[in-house]
Amino acid sequence: MRTKIVAGNWKMNKTLAEAQSLTSEIIGMVADEVKGNVKVVLCTPFPYLHAVNNQLGNNNRIAVGAQNCSEHDWGAYTGETSAAMLAAMNIPYVIIGHSERRQYFGEDGALLAKKVDKALAQGLTPIFCCGEPLEIREKGTHEALVKQQVEESLFHLSAEGLQKVVIAYEPVWAIGTGKTASSQQAQDMHAVIRKHIASKYGAIAENISILYGGSVKSDNAKELFACADVDGGLVGGASLKSREFVEIVKAI
Ligand code: 13P
Repeated sequence: MRTKIVAGNWKMNKTLAEAQSLTSEIIGMVADEVKGNVKVVLCTPFPYLHAVNNQLGNNNRIAVGAQNCSEHDWGAYTGETSAAMLAAMNIPYVIIGHSERRQYFGEDGALLAKKVDKALAQGLTPIFCCGEPLEIREKGTHEALVKQQVEESLFHLSAEGLQKVVIAYEPVWAIGTGKTASSQQAQDMHAVIRKHIASKYGAIAENISILYGGSVKSDNAKELFACADVDGGLVGGASLKSREFVEIVKAI
């Protein structure tokens, strides 16, 4: 049975005090809502990881995650944070390859493959993002592009490695736009991704959690999460408000 995950990507938002309030509220509200095979992940800005992780303590429902990591372990890389540093701080998750990293920081498939390797080598769970921009969707080549993104950054892994990766499909045209993919569009692409993984790795494709991201809100989460191949969500804007985020968690 695949793990269901609702991950909040806070991006570059909140002061430390606000981050701590949001975390307390989520802890308070999620306690009774999360049952069974469900995990909640809070992907905070780097400076807040330690504080939020301490706040969570031994909470076995909610975990913290980073939003990026370096492709290097240590050294003269000013401003960077390595997977080794995150692991030493007991941070279990890291987002890799978010479209904002691809778009604004020029991260490509080969670089992301290295970041995935570093995360796995340190025992972190990468949440690997893929997804097409609007012009590609309009051209009708979105399936080919997403398959290529998955292939470029994940298909060098062993079956054992791949099984530790969580994938997030985030169509770029749905991020922060209020325009969600329809549940059919999400299901179709998730099935394409799973089939593509199965073509190389066989039955283990069934064990991989594939999350949907892009304007997930409390009023559309239920329909999206009901799709057979949608195993949860990667939530941006709506993860910054405790009540809204917990409503999304409940939808799973
Ligand atoms: P929104 O939920 O704000 O559209 O952002 C999605 C996202 O980028 C999550 O990583």
